[in-house]
Amino acid sequence: MNEHAPPPTLSERADELEEAMMHQLTERIATKSTWCYLADGKVAMADGMALLAANPGKHFLMGADPRLPAMPEKPTLLDFFRARFAATSHLLQSATHALKGGQPEKVVLACLLHDIGVASFIRCDHGYWGAQMIEPYVDEEVAWAVRMHQALRFFADPSVGYEYPELYIKAFGADYKPEPYIVAEYERARNHKWYMTSRLITMNDIYSFDPDAKVNLDDFVDIVGRNFKQPKEGLGFDNSPSSHMWRTLMWPTRFL
Ligand SMILES: [Fe+2]
Ligand SMILES: [Fe+2]
Repeated sequence: MNEHAPPPTLSERADELEEAMMHQLTERIATKSTWCYLADGKVAMADGMALLAANPGKHFLMGADPRLPAMPEKPTLLDFFRARFAATSHLLQSATHALKGGQPEKVVLACLLHDIGVASFIRCDHGYWGAQMIEPYVDEEVAWAVRMHQALRFFADPSVGYEYPELYIKAFGADYKPEPYIVAEYERARNHKWYMTSRLITMNDIYSFDPDAKVNLDDFVDIVGRNFKQPKEGLGFDNSPSSHMWRTLMWPTRFL
């Protein structure tokens, strides 16, 4: 490298980075986890030795997957919103609804985060996954509310005008009955001091997904800043009980 050359511009550095990452994928083998096979209806896992034999001279990917949007070294919650959460409009619409309804910030935050389990990686029991991801960083009540919305959304509360969602009849059939663990969870939640916080998630949950709704993540930057304890090391590198979950989202095709 010519030591008298001007330092690279930001866009030159981005180009270099992208080229290095594309090169890396030709050198590296990205692997799917067992979970991905299960979702295809197969009980299977990647056969490491067979993959190495089929790709002579290559090694397994042990970091960022160049096919995915790059993440900064110290990612924030908003970076995950922009680069890993597949569909954020529903979250933004729900949080906007809560904001316009004059709800306190912790309820707006709970609405903004209530379905990040689904938006980032898993549908089954998404309320539990989402709550676990955010637990180290938010008020205990917010994580509790996100966890319990999993059960509460299946049960009407006429006293606050919450009906069983029409969408669920269409989605799950008129004869769908929540499993006993969900019924038991509902009963625990119903008698809890924070019941209404979780109920407010279900009341602001937008079931009529409007593709034209005008929503903007920027509207929530301050609320996130005040209510989500962003670790200075970056989400995933702060040694919290859920940092492995954030790292896995960041590097979903790492071999180990
Ligand atoms: Fe949900
Ligand atoms: Fe939702």
